[in-house]
Amino acid sequence: MAFIICLFIKITLFSVFTCSANAQLSPFYYSRTCPNLQFIVTNTMRQAISKEPRMGASILRLLFHDCFVNGCDASVLLDDTTTFTGEKNAFPNINSLRGFEVIDTIKSNVEASCSGIVSCADILALAARSAVFLLGGPSWLVPLGRRDATTASQSAANTNLPPPTANLSTLISMFATQGLNARDMTALSGAHTIGQARCTTFRDHIYNDTNINTTFATTRKATCPGPSSGTGDDNLAPLDVVTANRFDNGYFQGLLTRRGLLHSDQELFNGGSQDGLTRVYSFSYVAFANDFANAMVKMGNISPLTGLNGEIRKNCRVVN
Ligand code: HEM
Ligand SMILES: *[C@@H]1O[C@H](CO)[C@@H](O)[C@H](O)[C@H]1NC(C)=O
Ligand SMILES: *[C@@H]1O[C@H](CO)[C@@H](O)[C@H](O)[C@H]1NC(C)=O
Ligand SMILES: *[C@@H]1O[C@H](CO)[C@@H](O)[C@H](O)[C@H]1NC(C)=O
Repeated sequence: MAFIICLFIKITLFSVFTCSANAQLSPFYYSRTCPNLQFIVTNTMRQAISKEPRMGASILRLLFHDCFVNGCDASVLLDDTTTFTGEKNAFPNINSLRGFEVIDTIKSNVEASCSGIVSCADILALAARSAVFLLGGPSWLVPLGRRDATTASQSAANTNLPPPTANLSTLISMFATQGLNARDMTALSGAHTIGQARCTTFRDHIYNDTNINTTFATTRKATCPGPSSGTGDDNLAPLDVVTANRFDNGYFQGLLTRRGLLHSDQELFNGGSQDGLTRVYSFSYVAFANDFANAMVKMGNISPLTGLNGEIRKNCRVVN
């Protein structure tokens, strides 16, 4: 039955919808129990982004950092306490992840309309989809029905999330571990068409790497002083040098002119297996948008908790 519905949607609506191997998730999971869910999420995201455009990027990144650490189960949202160690202080997350207050606002708006029904994991998946769309990117149907973790893993966050120093083979293998292929990896890296990074994440790249546009490196060094200065670690620069706040294919155009901000970004166009695809995405927004939407559904389907596993958290920051 789920398969037939899936097939029907695929044929009649649009090709960006990928049917999940996990038959338990469905885009219509809350159709009767929380009919205004997607409207509430999009409206709250619209307010947050109009207050601060970067917030769209921050929410999109939260989903990635949730899904790569034992699946899309909202584990990343759990606060540390004296008796609980969560993921927020893991190396890739500390002083870096943001947007938790926005997720709290969405959750309380959703609770006001349908209490105790919608998981924080589903809210995050929907919020990321809205963020991309509101910043000019594609939309897609989000399979729903995830439940929330009662545990988190700081060590898995340290192990599973790729560092900005990663080379192409490391990037491909870390995504493969999550069931995502090289094409998914390159498309998903296009999330860096929005958002900012701190000097500490790209200092080595602009001072020491050779696969970088020298004019661009000079520009970035002006606001990201070298290691001997001992300052500037938190100074920000846009990940997409072409169009920083718009979800388009400017990121890939920047890679073609060797203006990727992170070492890992430029690895997608450095004489390796992803050069061709990067070139295609730089020419064709549509090709990128389709692959990105498909890959977001795939990433969102990583090991969800369903059925009797997990819980529907009351507060996204704490286990019930
Ligand atoms: C391919 C491997 C990836 C690496 C090595 C990587 C690394 C990074 C780093 C180092 C930052 C800057 C963090 C900071 O300065 O605090 C960043 C920002 C960001 N990343 Fe990634 N990332 C990767 C893939 C992804 C994926 C798959 C997504 C989402 C689908 C994503 C979405 C973002 C966004 C939107 C930002 C900006 C966040 C903001 O402005 O708040 N990244 N990433
Ligand atoms: C990529 O990085 C990994 C881990 O640092 C290293 O073992 C590997 O040799 C590197 N591969 C290439 C092709 O440079
Ligand atoms: C660059 O490489 C040199 C020599 O290997 C090293 O001392 C330095 O810390 C590296 N990083 C930066 C940002 O210069
Ligand atoms: C460096 O970037 C500029 C745009 O700022 C571009 O015109 C130039 O072709 C780039 N150089 C290389 C080697 O890609």
